[in-house]
Amino acid sequence: MAVYRDRVLPHIIDRMCGTALFGPWRAEASAGLRGTVVEIGFGSGLNVGHYPPEVERVLAVEPSATAFGLAAGRLRRSPATVERIGLDGQSLPLADASCDSALCTFTLCTVPRPELALAELRRVLVPGGRLHLLEHGLAPDPAVVAWQHRLDPLQGHLGGGCHLTVDPLGLVRAAGFTVESVTARYAGGPKPWTYFTRLVARAPVDACGGAAPGRGAGSPPGPPGPPGGDRRRGFRPPYRWALPGA
Ligand SMILES: C[S@@+](CC[C@H](N)C(=O)[O-])C[C@H]1O[C@@H](n2cnc3c(N)ncnc32)[C@H](O)[C@@H]1O
Repeated sequence: MAVYRDRVLPHIIDRMCGTALFGPWRAEASAGLRGTVVEIGFGSGLNVGHYPPEVERVLAVEPSATAFGLAAGRLRRSPATVERIGLDGQSLPLADASCDSALCTFTLCTVPRPELALAELRRVLVPGGRLHLLEHGLAPDPAVVAWQHRLDPLQGHLGGGCHLTVDPLGLVRAAGFTVESVTARYAGGPKPWTYFTRLVARAPVDACGGAAPGRGAGSPPGPPGPPGGDRRRGFRPPYRWALPGA
């Protein structure tokens, strides 16, 4: 199974997520990125060709060496500098407020605890910095949702931990971002896999004009969440964002 996950799956994802269906969604998700961008779940760099010219530097976070290796040709053609700076979106080796924008495409579905990844993105974004997100997830129709729950265990096995039952919009809101724009609809193709959500959300600015406190790589861990995380609608994170003394 390890050989499949580490050596084979990245090639499958590169092919399946690199089809024409995804192109316009990736272009729209990348529009407005600027300056220093942290991209978690960088994969094989399928967004690289869509970065706008305002992007100067991309800090890529990707656990799979095979996937990152597949990005080589795309990186050579990229006007923006791309550095692989980490392996886990749930614990970013970056200072608070060190990134202008964040990009996350089809990755929250696979990160074991997506709420931790969002808390990290919130921490490393400058106050008011924007998160650009594109994910497949929980559909609005009960019949499709029922199939998503039925297929989820199989999807997890075949997709390297990918889940069909993530609620990206709910998770982003629960993480304290302000959602500025959102498009959610079936993108075409089999419905359990293709209910896409694209959104842009702003990291908060606290009363003192700084970034709200997050859970950094150097911060003490919070209380444990539910096993495997909780991707459901209305999820509330197991920790609070209150300012010290508030
Ligand atoms: C479905 S692929 C999407 C890749 C790419 N973002 C795209 O849009 O094509 C999910 C990616 O998330 C990566 N991933 C899995 N767990 C992760 C984690 N804890 N932190 C960051 N990335 C992770 C996987 O290695 C994989 O490259």
